[in-house]
Amino acid sequence: MSSRATRSAVRAGWEAARAGFNAFTERMKAPSGREGHAVTVAELTQKAEERAAKRQHGAGKLTARERLEALLDPDTFVEVRQFQGGSMKEGFTGAAVITGHGEIAGRKVAVYAQDFSVRGGTLGRVEGQKILSIMDLAMQMRIPIIGLLDSGGARIQEGVVALTQYGRIFRKSCEASGSVPQISLILGPCAGGAVYSPALTDFIIMTREHSHMFVTGPEVVRAVTGEEVTFAQLGGAEVHNQRSGVAHYLADDETDALEYARSLLTYLPSCYESEAPTYDYEEQRSSPDLEALVPTSTRSPYDMVEVIEALVDHGEFVEVQAGFAQNIVIGFACMGGQSIGVVANQPLHDAGTLDVDASEKAARFVRLCDAFNLPLVTLVDVPGYRPGTEQEQAGIIRRGAKMIFAYGNATTPMVTVVLRKAYGGAYIVMGSKSIGADVNFAWPGAEVAVMGSEGAVSIMNRRELKAAEESGQDVAAVRAALAQKYQEESVNPDLSVAEGEFDAIVTPAQTRGAIIDALSLLRTKNRPVSGSKRHGNGPL
Ligand code: HXC
Repeated sequence: MSSRATRSAVRAGWEAARAGFNAFTERMKAPSGREGHAVTVAELTQKAEERAAKRQHGAGKLTARERLEALLDPDTFVEVRQFQGGSMKEGFTGAAVITGHGEIAGRKVAVYAQDFSVRGGTLGRVEGQKILSIMDLAMQMRIPIIGLLDSGGARIQEGVVALTQYGRIFRKSCEASGSVPQISLILGPCAGGAVYSPALTDFIIMTREHSHMFVTGPEVVRAVTGEEVTFAQLGGAEVHNQRSGVAHYLADDETDALEYARSLLTYLPSCYESEAPTYDYEEQRSSPDLEALVPTSTRSPYDMVEVIEALVDHGEFVEVQAGFAQNIVIGFACMGGQSIGVVANQPLHDAGTLDVDASEKAARFVRLCDAFNLPLVTLVDVPGYRPGTEQEQAGIIRRGAKMIFAYGNATTPMVTVVLRKAYGGAYIVMGSKSIGADVNFAWPGAEVAVMGSEGAVSIMNRRELKAAEESGQDVAAVRAALAQKYQEESVNPDLSVAEGEFDAIVTPAQTRGAIIDALSLLRTKNRPVSGSKRHGNGPL
Protein backbone atom coordinates (compact mmCIF):
# COMPACT_ATOMS: atom_id res chain seq x y z
CA MET A 1 0.00 0.00 0.00
CA SER A 2 1.37 3.44 -0.83
CA SER A 3 1.86 5.90 2.01
CA ARG A 4 -0.94 8.02 0.69
CA ALA A 5 -3.38 5.11 0.62
CA THR A 6 -2.39 4.13 4.17
CA ARG A 7 -2.98 7.66 5.40
CA SER A 8 -6.44 7.80 3.83
CA ALA A 9 -7.32 4.42 5.31
CA VAL A 10 -6.31 5.61 8.76
CA ARG A 11 -8.31 8.81 8.44
CA ALA A 12 -11.34 6.89 7.14
CA GLY A 13 -11.16 4.48 10.08
CA TRP A 14 -10.91 7.34 12.50
CA GLU A 15 -13.87 9.16 10.96
CA ALA A 16 -15.99 6.00 10.98
CA ALA A 17 -15.22 5.49 14.66
CA ARG A 18 -16.14 9.08 15.44
CA ALA A 19 -19.41 8.78 13.48
CA GLY A 20 -20.32 5.57 15.32
CA PHE A 21 -19.60 7.12 18.68
CA ASN A 22 -21.63 10.23 17.81
CA ALA A 23 -24.61 8.09 16.93
CA PHE A 24 -24.21 6.19 20.19
CA THR A 25 -24.02 9.31 22.32
CA GLU A 26 -26.96 10.88 20.52
CA ARG A 27 -29.06 8.03 21.87
CA MET A 28 -27.91 8.63 25.43
CA LYS A 29 -30.56 10.42 27.46
CA ALA A 30 -30.19 11.88 30.90
CA PRO A 31 -31.16 9.26 33.54
CA SER A 32 -33.96 11.44 34.98
CA GLY A 33 -35.82 11.02 31.72
CA ARG A 34 -35.39 14.66 30.75
CA GLU A 35 -35.97 14.57 27.06
CA GLY A 36 -33.83 16.26 24.49
CA HIS A 37 -30.55 16.33 26.40
CA ALA A 38 -28.00 14.35 24.42
CA VAL A 39 -24.38 14.21 25.52
CA THR A 40 -22.10 15.15 22.63
CA VAL A 41 -18.65 13.79 21.94
CA ALA A 42 -17.21 17.21 22.53
CA GLU A 43 -18.84 17.44 25.95
CA LEU A 44 -17.64 13.98 26.95
CA THR A 45 -14.13 14.65 25.75
CA GLN A 46 -14.08 17.96 27.57
CA LYS A 47 -15.33 16.36 30.77
CA ALA A 48 -12.67 13.67 30.57
CA GLU A 49 -10.03 16.31 29.96
CA GLU A 50 -11.24 18.35 32.93
CA ARG A 51 -10.97 15.31 35.12
CA ALA A 52 -7.53 14.54 33.73
CA ALA A 53 -6.41 18.12 34.30
CA LYS A 54 -7.58 18.02 37.90
CA ARG A 55 -5.63 14.86 38.60
CA GLN A 56 -2.51 15.67 36.60
CA HIS A 57 -2.18 19.37 37.43
CA GLY A 58 -2.65 18.52 41.08
CA ALA A 59 0.40 16.29 40.78
CA GLY A 60 2.38 18.94 38.89
CA LYS A 61 2.04 17.16 35.54
CA LEU A 62 0.42 17.94 32.19
CA THR A 63 -2.42 15.84 30.82
CA ALA A 64 -1.72 13.44 27.96
CA ARG A 65 -3.51 15.76 25.50
CA GLU A 66 -1.63 18.83 26.74
CA ARG A 67 1.62 16.93 26.26
CA LEU A 68 0.73 16.01 22.69
CA GLU A 69 -0.19 19.61 21.99
CA ALA A 70 3.15 20.83 23.32
CA LEU A 71 5.12 18.16 21.45
CA LEU A 72 3.57 18.54 18.01
CA ASP A 73 3.31 21.45 15.59
CA PRO A 74 0.06 23.37 16.20
CA ASP A 75 -3.11 21.71 14.88
CA THR A 76 -1.34 18.73 13.36
CA PHE A 77 -2.42 16.00 15.77
CA VAL A 78 -4.78 13.41 14.28
CA GLU A 79 -6.05 10.94 16.86
CA VAL A 80 -6.75 7.37 15.81
CA ARG A 81 -8.98 4.84 17.57
CA GLN A 82 -10.05 7.62 19.94
CA PHE A 83 -12.95 5.74 21.46
CA GLN A 84 -11.60 2.21 21.49
CA GLY A 85 -11.66 0.87 25.03
CA GLY A 86 -13.93 3.64 26.35
CA SER A 87 -16.36 2.95 29.18
CA MET A 88 -19.46 5.11 29.46
CA LYS A 89 -20.17 3.66 32.89
CA GLU A 90 -16.83 4.85 34.24
CA GLY A 91 -16.88 8.08 32.23
CA PHE A 92 -13.86 7.20 30.10
CA THR A 93 -14.19 8.24 26.47
CA GLY A 94 -11.32 5.97 25.50
CA ALA A 95 -8.57 3.68 26.70
CA ALA A 96 -5.65 4.63 28.97
CA VAL A 97 -3.51 5.58 26.00
CA ILE A 98 -4.05 8.17 23.27
CA THR A 99 -2.56 7.31 19.87
CA GLY A 100 -2.23 9.18 16.61
CA HIS A 101 0.11 11.08 14.35
CA GLY A 102 1.15 14.67 13.82
CA GLU A 103 4.09 16.76 12.73
CA ILE A 104 7.29 18.02 14.29
CA ALA A 105 9.02 20.82 12.37
CA GLY A 106 6.80 19.94 9.44
CA ARG A 107 7.72 16.22 9.39
CA LYS A 108 5.34 13.40 10.24
CA VAL A 109 5.70 11.40 13.46
CA ALA A 110 3.61 8.71 15.14
CA VAL A 111 2.81 9.21 18.82
CA TYR A 112 1.26 7.54 21.81
CA ALA A 113 0.62 9.14 25.18
CA GLN A 114 -0.36 7.12 28.22
CA ASP A 115 -3.24 8.80 30.08
CA PHE A 116 -2.67 8.44 33.81
CA SER A 117 -6.15 9.82 34.52
CA VAL A 118 -7.66 6.67 33.00
CA ARG A 119 -6.95 3.61 35.17
CA GLY A 120 -3.53 4.96 36.09
CA GLY A 121 -2.37 4.86 32.46
CA THR A 122 -2.05 1.09 32.85
CA LEU A 123 -1.68 -1.26 29.94
CA GLY A 124 -4.27 -3.92 29.14
CA ARG A 125 -5.49 -5.59 25.98
CA VAL A 126 -6.85 -2.46 24.28
CA GLU A 127 -3.95 -0.20 25.21
CA GLY A 128 -1.59 -2.83 23.84
CA GLN A 129 -3.59 -3.07 20.61
CA LYS A 130 -3.52 0.71 20.19
CA ILE A 131 0.23 1.02 20.77
CA LEU A 132 1.04 -1.92 18.50
CA SER A 133 -1.17 -0.49 15.80
CA ILE A 134 0.47 2.96 15.90
CA MET A 135 3.91 1.32 15.82
CA ASP A 136 2.85 -0.62 12.72
CA LEU A 137 1.66 2.60 11.17
CA ALA A 138 5.01 4.27 11.95
CA MET A 139 6.91 1.47 10.26
CA GLN A 140 4.60 1.43 7.23
CA MET A 141 4.76 5.20 6.86
CA ARG A 142 8.49 5.13 7.70
CA ILE A 143 8.24 7.82 10.36
CA PRO A 144 9.62 8.11 13.91
CA ILE A 145 7.61 6.93 16.89
CA ILE A 146 7.45 8.89 20.11
CA GLY A 147 6.02 7.44 23.33
CA LEU A 148 4.95 9.62 26.26
CA LEU A 149 4.93 7.31 29.27
CA ASP A 150 3.08 7.82 32.53
CA SER A 151 1.72 4.53 33.77
CA GLY A 152 1.27 2.06 36.61
CA GLY A 153 2.45 -0.69 34.22
CA ALA A 154 0.64 -3.92 33.43
CA ARG A 155 -3.02 -3.68 34.47
CA ILE A 156 -3.28 -6.09 37.37
CA GLN A 157 -6.90 -6.98 36.66
CA GLU A 158 -6.03 -8.21 33.16
CA GLY A 159 -3.28 -10.53 34.34
CA VAL A 160 -1.43 -12.44 31.64
CA VAL A 161 -3.33 -10.58 28.93
CA ALA A 162 -1.58 -7.37 30.00
CA LEU A 163 1.79 -9.08 30.29
CA THR A 164 1.40 -10.56 26.83
CA GLN A 165 0.75 -7.16 25.35
CA TYR A 166 4.06 -5.97 26.79
CA GLY A 167 5.75 -8.94 25.17
CA ARG A 168 4.24 -7.95 21.83
CA ILE A 169 5.32 -4.33 22.27
CA PHE A 170 8.89 -5.43 23.08
CA ARG A 171 8.98 -7.53 19.92
CA LYS A 172 7.53 -4.73 17.82
CA SER A 173 10.10 -2.31 19.23
CA CYS A 174 12.90 -4.70 18.26
CA GLU A 175 11.42 -4.84 14.77
CA ALA A 176 11.32 -1.04 14.59
CA SER A 177 14.85 -0.66 16.00
CA GLY A 178 17.15 0.73 13.33
CA SER A 179 14.20 1.08 10.95
CA VAL A 180 12.58 4.24 12.38
CA PRO A 181 13.83 6.41 15.28
CA GLN A 182 12.11 5.61 18.58
CA ILE A 183 12.00 8.14 21.42
CA SER A 184 10.56 7.58 24.92
CA LEU A 185 9.69 10.34 27.35
CA ILE A 186 9.16 9.18 30.92
CA LEU A 187 6.78 11.72 32.44
CA GLY A 188 5.55 9.78 35.46
CA PRO A 189 5.98 6.28 36.84
CA CYS A 190 7.37 3.51 34.66
CA ALA A 191 7.62 0.39 36.77
CA GLY A 192 8.22 -3.33 36.61
CA GLY A 193 8.99 -5.12 33.36
CA ALA A 194 7.27 -2.20 31.62
CA VAL A 195 10.60 -0.34 31.83
CA TYR A 196 11.93 -2.54 29.05
CA SER A 197 9.56 -0.96 26.58
CA PRO A 198 11.44 2.40 26.65
CA ALA A 199 14.75 0.60 27.28
CA LEU A 200 14.54 -0.88 23.78
CA THR A 201 14.08 2.52 22.13
CA ASP A 202 16.84 4.84 20.91
CA PHE A 203 16.39 7.63 23.47
CA ILE A 204 14.97 7.94 26.97
CA ILE A 205 14.16 11.40 28.27
CA MET A 206 13.26 11.82 31.97
CA THR A 207 11.96 14.78 33.95
CA ARG A 208 13.78 15.79 37.11
CA GLU A 209 10.83 15.59 39.50
CA HIS A 210 8.16 13.25 38.28
CA SER A 211 9.71 10.40 36.36
CA HIS A 212 10.81 7.12 37.88
CA MET A 213 11.97 3.88 36.33
CA PHE A 214 12.63 0.72 38.26
CA VAL A 215 12.17 -3.01 37.81
CA THR A 216 11.15 -3.49 41.44
CA GLY A 217 9.68 -0.62 43.47
CA PRO A 218 10.64 0.57 46.97
CA GLU A 219 8.06 -1.64 48.67
CA VAL A 220 9.30 -4.82 47.02
CA VAL A 221 12.89 -3.82 47.76
CA ARG A 222 12.03 -3.32 51.43
CA ALA A 223 10.19 -6.63 51.62
CA VAL A 224 12.93 -8.64 49.93
CA THR A 225 16.16 -7.00 51.07
CA GLY A 226 15.12 -4.82 53.98
CA GLU A 227 16.63 -1.80 52.27
CA GLU A 228 14.78 1.50 52.77
CA VAL A 229 14.93 3.47 49.57
CA THR A 230 12.91 6.29 48.00
CA PHE A 231 11.50 6.41 44.47
CA ALA A 232 14.13 9.01 43.53
CA GLN A 233 17.04 7.03 44.99
CA LEU A 234 15.91 3.87 43.27
CA GLY A 235 15.00 5.12 39.84
CA GLY A 236 14.78 8.91 39.64
CA ALA A 237 15.93 10.95 36.69
CA GLU A 238 19.27 11.86 38.31
CA VAL A 239 20.12 8.24 39.02
CA HIS A 240 19.40 7.18 35.45
CA ASN A 241 21.13 10.16 33.85
CA GLN A 242 24.23 10.13 36.00
CA ARG A 243 24.81 6.63 37.32
CA SER A 244 23.00 3.88 35.48
CA GLY A 245 23.22 5.42 31.99
CA VAL A 246 19.63 4.30 31.29
CA ALA A 247 18.48 7.80 30.31
CA HIS A 248 19.78 10.16 27.64
CA TYR A 249 18.53 13.51 28.90
CA LEU A 250 17.65 15.01 32.29
CA ALA A 251 14.89 17.53 31.64
CA ASP A 252 14.08 20.29 34.12
CA ASP A 253 10.37 19.82 33.46
CA GLU A 254 7.95 18.43 30.91
CA THR A 255 8.29 21.39 28.56
CA ASP A 256 12.05 20.94 28.51
CA ALA A 257 11.63 17.20 27.89
CA LEU A 258 9.25 17.73 24.97
CA GLU A 259 11.52 20.41 23.51
CA TYR A 260 14.54 18.08 23.68
CA ALA A 261 12.60 15.38 21.82
CA ARG A 262 11.77 17.91 19.10
CA SER A 263 15.45 18.94 18.87
CA LEU A 264 16.63 15.35 18.53
CA LEU A 265 14.31 14.81 15.58
CA THR A 266 15.71 17.80 13.72
CA TYR A 267 18.99 15.88 13.39
CA LEU A 268 17.53 12.50 12.48
CA PRO A 269 16.07 11.14 9.27
CA SER A 270 12.51 9.80 9.39
CA CYS A 271 13.73 6.25 8.71
CA TYR A 272 16.83 4.28 7.77
CA GLU A 273 16.18 4.80 4.06
CA SER A 274 16.10 8.59 4.14
CA GLU A 275 18.65 11.29 4.83
CA ALA A 276 18.48 13.72 7.74
CA PRO A 277 17.22 17.21 6.82
CA THR A 278 19.86 19.76 5.78
CA TYR A 279 20.02 23.33 7.03
CA ASP A 280 21.39 26.75 6.10
CA TYR A 281 24.78 27.53 7.50
CA GLU A 282 27.34 30.30 7.51
CA GLU A 283 29.96 29.95 4.79
CA GLN A 284 32.61 30.11 7.46
CA ARG A 285 35.47 27.67 6.93
CA SER A 286 37.97 28.48 9.61
CA SER A 287 37.57 28.21 13.37
CA PRO A 288 39.89 30.93 14.70
CA ASP A 289 38.88 30.45 18.35
CA LEU A 290 39.92 26.85 18.51
CA GLU A 291 43.63 27.28 19.20
CA ALA A 292 42.99 29.40 22.27
CA LEU A 293 40.59 26.81 23.70
CA VAL A 294 43.08 23.95 23.71
CA PRO A 295 46.22 24.25 25.88
CA THR A 296 49.40 22.96 24.23
CA SER A 297 50.52 20.92 27.23
CA THR A 298 48.91 17.54 26.67
CA ARG A 299 48.28 17.15 30.39
CA SER A 300 46.26 20.37 30.81
CA PRO A 301 42.50 19.90 30.76
CA TYR A 302 40.01 21.85 28.63
CA ASP A 303 36.34 21.51 27.85
CA MET A 304 35.81 19.46 24.69
CA VAL A 305 32.21 20.71 24.46
CA GLU A 306 33.57 24.23 23.86
CA VAL A 307 35.79 22.85 21.11
CA ILE A 308 32.83 21.14 19.45
CA GLU A 309 30.78 24.33 19.67
CA ALA A 310 33.62 26.27 18.04
CA LEU A 311 33.71 23.77 15.16
CA VAL A 312 30.06 23.18 14.26
CA ASP A 313 27.47 25.32 12.46
CA HIS A 314 26.12 28.20 14.56
CA GLY A 315 27.88 26.75 17.64
CA GLU A 316 24.86 24.47 18.20
CA PHE A 317 25.59 21.11 19.80
CA VAL A 318 22.85 18.89 21.27
CA GLU A 319 24.60 16.67 23.76
CA VAL A 320 23.24 13.20 24.54
CA GLN A 321 23.80 11.44 27.90
CA ALA A 322 25.65 14.51 29.16
CA GLY A 323 25.62 13.37 32.79
CA PHE A 324 26.82 9.80 32.30
CA ALA A 325 30.38 8.63 31.52
CA GLN A 326 31.44 12.24 31.23
CA ASN A 327 34.91 11.26 30.03
CA ILE A 328 33.38 10.86 26.60
CA VAL A 329 31.06 13.30 24.82
CA ILE A 330 28.41 12.30 22.28
CA GLY A 331 25.77 14.35 20.51
CA PHE A 332 24.38 15.90 17.37
CA ALA A 333 25.34 18.99 15.40
CA CYS A 334 25.50 20.21 11.82
CA MET A 335 28.56 20.94 9.72
CA GLY A 336 28.17 22.55 6.33
CA GLY A 337 24.41 22.24 6.87
CA GLN A 338 24.59 18.46 7.22
CA SER A 339 23.53 16.60 10.40
CA ILE A 340 26.36 14.70 12.06
CA GLY A 341 26.99 12.64 15.17
CA VAL A 342 29.99 13.67 17.26
CA VAL A 343 32.06 11.40 19.50
CA ALA A 344 34.87 13.04 21.46
CA ASN A 345 37.09 12.41 24.47
CA GLN A 346 36.53 14.88 27.32
CA PRO A 347 39.84 15.90 28.98
CA LEU A 348 37.88 17.61 31.80
CA HIS A 349 36.82 14.24 33.23
CA ASP A 350 39.28 11.49 34.15
CA ALA A 351 41.69 13.07 31.63
CA GLY A 352 39.45 11.74 28.84
CA THR A 353 40.50 8.13 29.41
CA LEU A 354 38.34 5.34 28.04
CA ASP A 355 36.57 3.04 30.48
CA VAL A 356 33.68 0.57 30.51
CA ASP A 357 30.89 3.14 30.63
CA ALA A 358 32.49 5.43 28.04
CA SER A 359 32.93 2.47 25.70
CA GLU A 360 29.28 1.44 25.89
CA LYS A 361 28.02 5.01 25.67
CA ALA A 362 30.02 5.68 22.51
CA ALA A 363 29.35 2.25 21.01
CA ARG A 364 25.59 2.57 21.06
CA PHE A 365 25.76 6.10 19.67
CA VAL A 366 27.96 4.94 16.80
CA ARG A 367 25.44 2.16 16.08
CA LEU A 368 22.61 4.70 16.10
CA CYS A 369 24.38 7.06 13.69
CA ASP A 370 25.27 4.18 11.41
CA ALA A 371 21.70 2.85 11.40
CA PHE A 372 20.31 6.27 10.47
CA ASN A 373 22.89 7.48 7.93
CA LEU A 374 24.41 10.18 10.12
CA PRO A 375 28.10 10.83 9.36
CA LEU A 376 30.33 10.52 12.41
CA VAL A 377 32.93 13.08 13.37
CA THR A 378 35.33 11.75 16.01
CA LEU A 379 37.55 14.18 17.94
CA VAL A 380 40.39 12.42 19.69
CA ASP A 381 42.42 13.53 22.70
CA VAL A 382 42.95 10.35 24.66
CA PRO A 383 45.75 9.22 26.98
CA GLY A 384 44.56 5.59 26.75
CA TYR A 385 42.37 3.19 28.69
CA ARG A 386 42.01 3.81 32.41
CA PRO A 387 44.30 1.27 34.08
CA GLY A 388 43.54 -0.75 37.20
CA THR A 389 41.80 -3.77 38.69
CA GLU A 390 38.52 -1.92 38.98
CA GLN A 391 38.26 -1.56 35.20
CA GLU A 392 39.58 -5.02 34.41
CA GLN A 393 37.10 -6.60 36.78
CA ALA A 394 34.29 -4.43 35.45
CA GLY A 395 34.91 -6.06 32.07
CA ILE A 396 36.85 -3.52 30.06
CA ILE A 397 37.77 -6.31 27.63
CA ARG A 398 34.17 -7.42 27.05
CA ARG A 399 32.59 -3.97 27.25
CA GLY A 400 35.40 -2.12 25.50
CA ALA A 401 35.03 -4.52 22.57
CA LYS A 402 31.54 -3.12 21.96
CA MET A 403 33.05 0.16 20.81
CA ILE A 404 35.42 -1.61 18.45
CA PHE A 405 32.51 -3.64 17.11
CA ALA A 406 30.48 -0.46 16.56
CA TYR A 407 33.22 1.43 14.69
CA GLY A 408 34.48 -1.71 12.96
CA ASN A 409 31.07 -2.44 11.45
CA ALA A 410 30.03 1.13 10.68
CA THR A 411 29.79 2.12 7.04
CA THR A 412 28.42 5.62 7.54
CA PRO A 413 30.88 8.38 6.51
CA MET A 414 33.49 8.80 9.25
CA VAL A 415 35.90 11.69 9.70
CA THR A 416 38.39 11.72 12.58
CA VAL A 417 40.68 14.42 13.95
CA VAL A 418 43.42 13.76 16.52
CA LEU A 419 43.85 17.00 18.45
CA ARG A 420 46.72 16.62 20.93
CA LYS A 421 47.29 12.96 21.62
CA ALA A 422 46.13 9.43 20.93
CA TYR A 423 47.87 6.59 22.71
CA GLY A 424 47.76 2.85 22.33
CA GLY A 425 44.57 0.89 21.76
CA ALA A 426 42.53 4.01 22.42
CA TYR A 427 44.04 5.59 19.28
CA ILE A 428 42.88 2.65 17.18
CA VAL A 429 39.41 2.45 18.72
CA MET A 430 38.56 6.15 18.44
CA GLY A 431 37.77 6.13 14.72
CA SER A 432 41.24 5.39 13.34
CA LYS A 433 41.60 4.70 9.64
CA SER A 434 42.38 1.06 10.31
CA ILE A 435 39.12 0.57 12.21
CA GLY A 436 37.14 2.04 9.32
CA ALA A 437 37.20 5.85 9.19
CA ASP A 438 37.27 7.40 5.73
CA VAL A 439 39.20 10.63 6.27
CA ASN A 440 41.64 11.21 9.15
CA PHE A 441 43.42 14.38 10.21
CA ALA A 442 45.82 15.31 13.00
CA TRP A 443 46.85 18.65 14.41
CA PRO A 444 50.54 19.64 14.09
CA GLY A 445 52.61 18.00 16.81
CA ALA A 446 49.87 15.57 17.84
CA GLU A 447 51.29 12.77 19.97
CA VAL A 448 50.53 9.36 18.53
CA ALA A 449 52.32 6.35 19.97
CA VAL A 450 51.91 2.95 21.54
CA MET A 451 52.48 4.45 24.99
CA GLY A 452 53.88 7.48 26.82
CA SER A 453 57.62 7.99 27.23
CA GLU A 454 57.88 6.88 30.88
CA GLY A 455 56.37 3.46 30.25
CA ALA A 456 58.14 3.04 26.91
CA VAL A 457 61.62 3.78 28.31
CA SER A 458 61.12 1.36 31.22
CA ILE A 459 60.37 -1.43 28.75
CA MET A 460 62.57 -0.60 25.74
CA ASN A 461 65.64 0.61 27.65
CA ARG A 462 65.64 -1.77 30.59
CA ARG A 463 69.22 -2.94 29.89
CA GLU A 464 70.65 0.60 29.48
CA LEU A 465 69.00 1.68 32.73
CA LYS A 466 70.39 -1.36 34.57
CA ALA A 467 73.88 -0.77 33.16
CA ALA A 468 73.70 2.90 34.19
CA GLU A 469 72.76 1.88 37.71
CA GLU A 470 75.58 -0.69 37.93
CA SER A 471 78.20 1.73 36.66
CA GLY A 472 77.14 4.41 39.17
CA GLN A 473 75.70 6.87 36.64
CA ASP A 474 72.84 9.26 37.42
CA VAL A 475 69.97 6.90 36.51
CA ALA A 476 67.36 9.67 36.57
CA ALA A 477 69.39 11.73 34.10
CA VAL A 478 69.86 8.73 31.79
CA ARG A 479 66.15 7.97 31.98
CA ALA A 480 65.26 11.59 31.19
CA ALA A 481 67.58 11.63 28.17
CA LEU A 482 66.11 8.38 26.85
CA ALA A 483 62.58 9.68 27.39
CA GLN A 484 63.46 12.90 25.55
CA LYS A 485 64.85 10.88 22.62
CA TYR A 486 61.73 8.67 22.49
CA GLN A 487 59.49 11.74 22.67
CA GLU A 488 61.28 13.45 19.79
CA GLU A 489 61.63 10.41 17.56
CA SER A 490 58.52 8.36 18.18
CA VAL A 491 55.77 10.47 19.78
CA ASN A 492 54.52 12.41 16.78
CA PRO A 493 52.21 11.92 13.84
CA ASP A 494 55.04 11.37 11.31
CA LEU A 495 54.87 7.58 11.22
CA SER A 496 51.06 7.71 10.92
CA VAL A 497 51.33 10.15 8.02
CA ALA A 498 53.94 7.94 6.35
CA GLU A 499 51.71 4.91 6.85
CA GLY A 500 48.72 6.72 5.33
CA GLU A 501 46.84 6.67 8.65
CA PHE A 502 46.40 10.46 8.40
CA ASP A 503 45.34 12.13 5.17
CA ALA A 504 46.63 15.52 6.25
CA ILE A 505 47.96 17.56 9.12
CA VAL A 506 45.59 20.49 9.67
CA THR A 507 45.92 23.44 12.00
CA PRO A 508 43.17 24.10 14.53
CA ALA A 509 41.95 27.02 12.39
CA GLN A 510 41.76 24.81 9.27
CA THR A 511 39.91 21.98 11.00
CA ARG A 512 36.34 23.11 10.34
CA GLY A 513 36.96 23.58 6.63
CA ALA A 514 38.75 20.25 6.35
CA ILE A 515 35.90 18.35 8.03
CA ILE A 516 33.25 20.07 5.87
CA ASP A 517 35.19 19.19 2.70
CA ALA A 518 35.57 15.58 3.80
CA LEU A 519 31.85 15.30 4.63
CA SER A 520 31.02 16.79 1.25
CA LEU A 521 33.18 14.19 -0.51
CA LEU A 522 31.62 11.39 1.50
CA ARG A 523 28.02 12.34 0.69
CA THR A 524 28.01 9.88 -2.18
CA LYS A 525 29.69 7.07 -0.25
CA ASN A 526 28.34 3.73 -1.46
CA ARG A 527 26.53 1.96 1.40
CA PRO A 528 24.50 -0.92 0.04
CA VAL A 529 21.77 -2.18 2.33
CA SER A 530 19.95 -5.47 2.11
CA GLY A 531 16.79 -6.12 4.06
CA SER A 532 14.46 -3.84 5.97
CA LYS A 533 17.16 -1.90 7.85
CA ARG A 534 20.92 -1.56 8.12
CA HIS A 535 20.87 -3.08 11.62
CA GLY A 536 19.04 -2.61 14.87
CA ASN A 537 20.14 -0.29 17.67
CA GLY A 538 20.04 -2.79 20.49
CA PRO A 539 20.72 -1.68 24.05
CA LEU A 540 24.37 -2.16 25.04
C1 HXC B 1 -4.17 -1.67 37.84
C2 HXC B 1 -3.40 0.30 38.69
C3 HXC B 1 -2.05 -0.11 38.55
C4 HXC B 1 -1.83 -1.42 38.01
C5 HXC B 1 -2.05 1.88 39.33
N1 HXC B 1 -3.34 1.54 39.17
N2 HXC B 1 -1.26 0.87 38.96
N3 HXC B 1 -4.44 -0.46 38.33
N4 HXC B 1 -2.92 -2.15 37.66
N5 HXC B 1 -0.61 -1.89 37.81
C6 HXC B 1 -4.50 2.37 39.39
C7 HXC B 1 -4.76 2.66 40.87
O1 HXC B 1 -5.55 1.65 41.43
C8 HXC B 1 -5.54 3.96 40.75
O2 HXC B 1 -6.87 3.69 40.38
C9 HXC B 1 -4.88 4.66 39.59
O3 HXC B 1 -4.27 3.62 38.84
C10 HXC B 1 -3.84 5.64 40.00
O4 HXC B 1 -2.93 5.01 40.89
P1 HXC B 1 -2.58 5.62 42.30
O5 HXC B 1 -1.92 4.56 43.09
O6 HXC B 1 -3.78 6.28 42.91
O7 HXC B 1 -1.59 6.78 41.91
P2 HXC B 1 -0.23 7.22 42.61
O8 HXC B 1 -0.44 7.39 44.08
O9 HXC B 1 0.24 8.39 41.82
O10 HXC B 1 0.76 5.99 42.42
C11 HXC B 1 1.10 5.58 41.13
C12 HXC B 1 1.94 4.28 41.20
C13 HXC B 1 1.20 3.21 42.02
C14 HXC B 1 3.31 4.59 41.80
C15 HXC B 1 2.16 3.86 39.73
O11 HXC B 1 -0.16 3.13 41.57
C16 HXC B 1 1.84 1.89 41.86
O12 HXC B 1 2.83 1.61 42.53
N6 HXC B 1 1.27 1.04 41.02
C17 HXC B 1 1.82 -0.29 40.74
C18 HXC B 1 3.08 -0.15 39.95
C19 HXC B 1 3.72 -1.44 39.57
O13 HXC B 1 4.29 -2.14 40.42
N7 HXC B 1 3.55 -1.83 38.37
C20 HXC B 1 4.19 -2.99 37.86
C21 HXC B 1 3.18 -3.90 37.37
S1 HXC B 1 4.10 -5.23 36.64
P3 HXC B 1 -8.10 4.64 40.81
O14 HXC B 1 -9.29 3.90 40.31
O15 HXC B 1 -8.02 4.75 42.27
O16 HXC B 1 -7.86 5.93 40.13
C22 HXC B 1 4.46 -4.74 35.07
C23 HXC B 1 5.13 -5.83 34.29
C24 HXC B 1 5.10 -5.63 32.82
O17 HXC B 1 4.17 -3.70 34.63
C25 HXC B 1 5.50 -6.93 32.21
C26 HXC B 1 6.46 -6.81 31.11
C27 HXC B 1 7.09 -8.10 30.75
